[in-house]
Amino acid sequence: MQKIHIVSNRLPFSIKEDGENITLEASVGGLATGMKSIYKDYGGTWIGWPGIDSDTISNDKMEAIDNLFIEEKCASVHLNSEEIHLFYEGFSNRTIWPLFHYFTQFADFNQEDWETYKAVNQKFADAAIETMDDGDAVWVHDYQLLLVPEMIKSKKPNVTIGFFLHIPFPSYEVFRMLPWRKEIIKGMLGADLIGFHTYDYERHFFSCVRRLFGYEISFNQIHIEERIIIADSFPMGIDYEKFLKSAQEVGMKSITEKSELHKELDKYFLSSPDRKLILSIDRLDYTKGIPNRLKAFARFLEKYPEFRQKVTLIMLAVPSRGQVDHYQQLKKEVDELVGQINGAYGSINYTPIWYFYRSLPFNNLIELYSSCDVALITPVRDGMNLVAKEYVASRINNTGALILSEMAGVAKEMGEALLINPVDDEEMADCIHQALTMPVDEQKSRMSFMKERIQRYDVFKWANEFIKSLKKAESIQTDFLAK
Ligand code: ADP
Ligand code: G6P
Repeated sequence: MQKIHIVSNRLPFSIKEDGENITLEASVGGLATGMKSIYKDYGGTWIGWPGIDSDTISNDKMEAIDNLFIEEKCASVHLNSEEIHLFYEGFSNRTIWPLFHYFTQFADFNQEDWETYKAVNQKFADAAIETMDDGDAVWVHDYQLLLVPEMIKSKKPNVTIGFFLHIPFPSYEVFRMLPWRKEIIKGMLGADLIGFHTYDYERHFFSCVRRLFGYEISFNQIHIEERIIIADSFPMGIDYEKFLKSAQEVGMKSITEKSELHKELDKYFLSSPDRKLILSIDRLDYTKGIPNRLKAFARFLEKYPEFRQKVTLIMLAVPSRGQVDHYQQLKKEVDELVGQINGAYGSINYTPIWYFYRSLPFNNLIELYSSCDVALITPVRDGMNLVAKEYVASRINNTGALILSEMAGVAKEMGEALLINPVDDEEMADCIHQALTMPVDEQKSRMSFMKERIQRYDVFKWANEFIKSLKKAESIQTDFLAK
């Protein structure tokens, strides 16, 4: 295996246009933030979409964009308005995303979206094939590109292909609803190694393969005529040292070096010694359980009135997939709920929820992680959830409490968090109380166990384990063919 190329829909950077000026800004989302720390180590190119509509830019600008990406060892696959509408907003985010997150009532099944999904997957596969030299391997990522492994394999049978799914793989009863279920599984089976965040997702995948195709499966290996495919779980980690070091630096800053946000946070705590902050950070996505979280926070203020005036929820939501109707409805619902809660419990000098609808620079994220007493992470369904790991890594003195949904993949690794059912307002309200009153010794003990675990299994370890298994998959296949 020489170089390893990465293929994903979203590149680690997206284009930011300011008049005629174009620059790159960091993309948000677990795939981009996680893989950004490692992809350059593999010597290959990261192939993906720059995040803008090619119909709206001139050829000169497109060339300038391509050059910016080449400097970052990335290659752009351009998508036009129709492709964005039918492939990205359509099949990827109106069909697969809701279905795989068990929002079956949100899933559309549209033939035109499917046809475009196939065509755009072919476009990514062709771009990967064009980039590859003999002996290179390719690592394909996520639900937007489920057909790419098979598309590459059919043209380049000798290329070793890894595929990693960053979202849940649902149970057969949900997956079978998809009219193109067999094609999707066939597409994934083009890979030599298929990775999931958790054993449950892997188990669901095996069950679908068995029921839809009847293939023989033993010890993580799927046997198909002349091929052996391995599927396994690899819980994704974060760049632990980067978060820890950045949090240490934030802790050492003098007043003049502090950001405006940091100064505001200091002011908040200085105004009264028993004030506390709760943090919530996500993309604005219906899978993240934001309305339930807000309702539970309101219930907490109702049930424990002694905490009014003393506890503020900082809620950061990054705009995401704004052209998709369910995201627009969610934005409206969240805006209304925040308004209602602030109206009901706020006063001249107390705002219960500080709501930011934007992406923040890395330094500000660290300031928030290190300043907030509690992290409230309550997705209704989440493949992994890296925010939970980032919060833990940033707690330099091990204080703080993590309230975590049992529906997030990360809950499997965070047994010491306060685990909650994300639709149970009453339980969540009580957990907020428990977190805010948790003795410091208990905070430190819980936090240090979680920290040790995410330090050991960081994003580098995750990627190394995946690549090690990919090499093993390659040699198993060679041995099998030699027999
Ligand atoms: P998802 O992949 O579904 O978005 P994750 O929690 O796994 O969820 O990953 C989200 C990533 O996006 C994290 O690395 C987090 O730091 C980053 N992020 C989330 N919110 C913001 C924000 N407001 N500004 C900048 N980065 C953010
Ligand atoms: C999740 C998905 C990623 C996606 C990210 C951001 O993390 O697993 O594939 O890139 O969300 O979503 P977006 O639609 O903006 O790429």
